[in-house]
Amino acid sequence: MLFFFAVSLKQLLLFKISNMANNLLKGKRGIIFGALNDQSIAWKVAERAHEEGAVFVLTNAPIAMRMGEINGLAAKTNSQIIPADATSLEDLENLVVKAMEILGGKIDFVLHSIGMSPNVRKGKHYTETNYQYYNQTMDVSAISLHKTLSTLYKHEALNEWGSVVALTYIAAQRIFPDYNDMADAKSLLESITRSFGYHYGIKNKVRVNTISQSPTVTTAGQGIKGFTEFINFSEQMSPLGNASAVACADYCVTMFSDLTRYVTMQNLFHDGGFSNTGVTQQVIEKFGNE
Ligand SMILES: NC(=O)c1ccc[n+]([C@@H]2O[C@H](COP(=O)([O-])OP(=O)(O)OC[C@H]3O[C@@H](n4cnc5c(N)ncnc54)[C@H](O)[C@@H]3O)[C@@H](O)[C@H]2O)c1
Repeated sequence: MLFFFAVSLKQLLLFKISNMANNLLKGKRGIIFGALNDQSIAWKVAERAHEEGAVFVLTNAPIAMRMGEINGLAAKTNSQIIPADATSLEDLENLVVKAMEILGGKIDFVLHSIGMSPNVRKGKHYTETNYQYYNQTMDVSAISLHKTLSTLYKHEALNEWGSVVALTYIAAQRIFPDYNDMADAKSLLESITRSFGYHYGIKNKVRVNTISQSPTVTTAGQGIKGFTEFINFSEQMSPLGNASAVACADYCVTMFSDLTRYVTMQNLFHDGGFSNTGVTQQVIEKFGNE
């Protein structure tokens, strides 16, 4: 009896796993930036990419490594970690060269999941921005994508039909006051995606896209003032509700796979419908008594 129970439990587990994973990334090599802790979107992407058969290296700023949580993810996904400050061309050069050595060939996918604003962190109002901080916001959150792409380009490190995805937010198109100078950084990030996507497409058929994700509870997300209220507002303004980090990881996996080979230079909304919603009945009703 116990034996049958154990066998059917095993079958159930195998069925569940085989149902979730489809080897969409089998044989693909990647670089994943930005896994800080198990809330990070990049963390979920690494888990899903591993399930789908990819091999990859993990990278983050040396300072973020001090927390050490990334070691657990590396062990779980059989991957190595190469520290790199994404604003340093020297670090990126080392990352790209070492990644190809470790993985045994050219790269097929890259996730840019990096964001940081000293103005947001220090509570500086947008109208009174500190310009040194502002430059840092741009460098870390946007120009780092250009630096990464140009390093990959220079080393011919990406295979044909390779796919680069960077994560962004709709504040690039519309004002969300507390998002501060991160909105400007995201606009630049999306512009770099189009411009580099053009050049890389012509040269190597490489795809470059951004995914514009719903507000998500992560370390970077929670740094935004009024985040809890905002996440609830967004939930009620999205016909499907806010997209989770795991759902974002699923979308990233499809963008890395061969199923989306002709999608490039796009900003892809992954937001439960928020970006095309003027208002919802739920939100309208909140104003009934005013
Ligand atoms: N959380 C949200 O609500 C949300 C919504 C839309 C888009 N995004 C974007 O998703 C991406 C990932 O953020 P997250 O929400 O998973 O938060 P997170 O805090 O887990 O990830 C941000 C990462 O950026 C890394 N980073 C910062 N400075 C760096 C540097 N100089 N070099 C290399 N890495 C550096 C951090 O160490 C961290 O791992 C960001 O681009 C963010 O703007 C987040």
